[in-house]
Amino acid sequence: MDRRKFLATTLAAGTAVSATSTTAIAQDRKAVKIVGVSCSPRKGKTTAAALSICLEAAKAVDPGVTTEMIELAGRNIGVFDPANPKATQGGFADLIGVLSDPNVGGIVIGTPVYFGNMTSLCKAFLDHCMAFRQQKFALGNKVAGIVAVGAARNGGQELAIQSIHVALLCQEMVIIGDGRPTAHFGATLVNDGNDSISGDEFGISTAKNLGRRIAEVALKLARTGT
Ligand SMILES: Cc1cc2nc3c(=O)[nH]c(=O)nc-3n(C[C@H](O)[C@H](O)[C@H](O)COP(=O)(O)O)c2cc1C
Repeated sequence: MDRRKFLATTLAAGTAVSATSTTAIAQDRKAVKIVGVSCSPRKGKTTAAALSICLEAAKAVDPGVTTEMIELAGRNIGVFDPANPKATQGGFADLIGVLSDPNVGGIVIGTPVYFGNMTSLCKAFLDHCMAFRQQKFALGNKVAGIVAVGAARNGGQELAIQSIHVALLCQEMVIIGDGRPTAHFGATLVNDGNDSISGDEFGISTAKNLGRRIAEVALKLARTGT
């Protein structure tokens, strides 16, 4: 083969290879939606703010990631009654379709810390999630991460996170923590006493790392068709 022919063949092969890798990347890219659920009885306060930071970080991972924020405040979700679950579900009814949508790859649950645990609104929400278990585990294989905001640095954020993890394991969800470099149990933030988390640099980093990690894992699962 003369030099000109060799170069022509090699260049053509190179073009083919790069076309293949571009296609592979395009096929690899999937769209996933990450939904944040704020379980604070107070709309738009510190839990919602922490969740927003987390969702923004999720969105920044890939153009295929979209996000939605749901606030449970004012939705009138009552204590779960197994004898008549629908009687107290209130606005939870509207969330069943939203959360079980197959395009939803991840759910971030945010709760204020109330006496070392999740809020009663959060527990009511999780109990109403019995509906998903009964719908062939409609939340199964969706990725789940938790954001907890307290008034103290060690006010029980990790305990609240752990309690929520336990409930979500019963839904066959894939539990993740905040990604590296913080890499612990989820996002743990502190309200400075004036309903602001903006000065909590470390807490904000955990919220960002959680958002990035949930998007990365949800995309990986979407790409495997799980
Ligand atoms: C009933 C109640 C109990 C609380 N218990 C704790 C607690 O155990 N640990 C803590 O760090 N903060 C505690 N807090 C403070 C809240 O977690 C904190 O103010 C949080 O930022 C509120 O979230 P929000 O702004 O989304 O409503 C408590 C607040 C209330 C109203």
